[in-house]
Amino acid sequence: MMTFEQFNQKLKDARSRERAYALAVGCLKDRSRFDWTGVYSLEGDELVLRSFVGKPTPHNRIPVGRGVCGTAIAEKEDQNVADVRKLENYLSCSLDARSELVVLIRNGDEIFAQIDIDSNVEGAFSDEDYQAVKQVADRLADYFVRKPRLPERPAPKGTDAPDSVRRNAYAICAICKAEIPWGGSWYRCTVSTCNRKRFQLKFCKPECWDAHLPEARHRDPAYEEQQAPYSVR
Ligand code: SME
Repeated sequence: MMTFEQFNQKLKDARSRERAYALAVGCLKDRSRFDWTGVYSLEGDELVLRSFVGKPTPHNRIPVGRGVCGTAIAEKEDQNVADVRKLENYLSCSLDARSELVVLIRNGDEIFAQIDIDSNVEGAFSDEDYQAVKQVADRLADYFVRKPRLPERPAPKGTDAPDSVRRNAYAICAICKAEIPWGGSWYRCTVSTCNRKRFQLKFCKPECWDAHLPEARHRDPAYEEQQAPYSVR
């Protein structure tokens, strides 16, 4: 689990908004009852999903005013919904979801983005949860105010998710074909021919890296542990 202090420290070195969103998700995702943790940025009159951990959602883009997320923007108010089944204006992303917390990333009336959390437990979000999410949201807002020129990658068009494999996992192990999850560890071979731009071998564990050696016949092989991003993009 990434503490707020670690998040704060890492944020100082973040060189894109994408990285900042992924750090926020990384910092919050392991809190108990947080079953889906994501960040939507506000782009024109739409919210665009920028980073998340949890099951893939069909709602990659949400118009202002729609669902709990869009309502937060329209009303300029954070939302803590104890039972989403009682809402009419709700966009379901999982049949298990029961409560939802949305905290705006804002500087006064200027809204940059929002942190969205879903829980499978009714009334999951305490005041302490809210304060923890708010602390991260406020820190991000402060960062964006100070770095107005931070680059942000253009969002993909439409609601199409990346190809079906990558929706659920960062990558597939080159040897055993196991999924390497978003935010999880993976291993790279340090030899350059295994790391070409369009061809990089990703291994889920050191044993799988071992398994590629006989065929690769490297002179001086080693592996390095890497961390997959907390993001679909
Ligand atoms: N439930 C949200 C949609 C986003 S998903 O939960 C990830 C809403 O009603 O706006």
